[in-house]
Amino acid sequence: MADPVYTPPSGPPQGSPPRLFEHIGLEPLQAFSRDMYQRLSRSEISALFPSDPGELEAASRRQADFLTGAFGGPQLYRQKYGHPRMRARHLPFPIDEHARQTWLSCFQGALGDGSRLNLDAAQTEELLRWIERFSEWMMNRK
Ligand code: HEM
Repeated sequence: MADPVYTPPSGPPQGSPPRLFEHIGLEPLQAFSRDMYQRLSRSEISALFPSDPGELEAASRRQADFLTGAFGGPQLYRQKYGHPRMRARHLPFPIDEHARQTWLSCFQGALGDGSRLNLDAAQTEELLRWIERFSEWMMNRK
C-alpha cells in the first residue's frame, strides 16, 4: 500500500510573502530559478525532477512564474495554470523532511547572499524565513 499522506500540524503558512518583485525584476528571478533547478537536478532528490533539459527549464520557468506573483508582481502562474494549489500539486511527489532540506539547500545555494536578486541582508533573511515556512507546508510524507 502507498504511504499515508502526512499533513504538517503547523498548517498552511499564514501572512503574505515579501513584496519584493518590483525590487528584484523578472530576469534575475528567472535566472535564479534556472540556477536552482540546475542544482536540484544534481541533488539527492534529482529523481523527482525532469531529466530532459528542456523540461527542466520549463519546470524552472513555472517556479519563476509562481514566485513573480507571490512577490507582488504579475500573476503569471495563475494566468497560465489557474489557482496555484501548491500543496495539492506537490502531492504526487513524496516530500519528507530530507527532501525539504535538500530542496531548501538548493534554494539557498542559488540565492547566495541575496545580491543576485538585489536584496540586502534583511530582505534576504525575510525571503528565507518565508520559504522555510512555505516549504514546510509542501511536506506530505513523515
Ligand atoms: C519542500 C520541498 C519541495 C520539493 C521537494 C518540491 C518538489 C517539486 C517537484 C518534484 C515538482 C514537479 C517538478 C516539475 O514541475 O516537473 C515541483 C513543482 C513545483 N514546485 Fe515544488 N517542491 C518543494 C517546495 C516548493 C516550494 C516551497 C515552492 C514555492 C516557491 C514550490 C514551487 C513549485 C512550483 C511553482 C511548481 C510547479 C507546479 C506545476 O505547475 O506543476 N515548491 N516541486
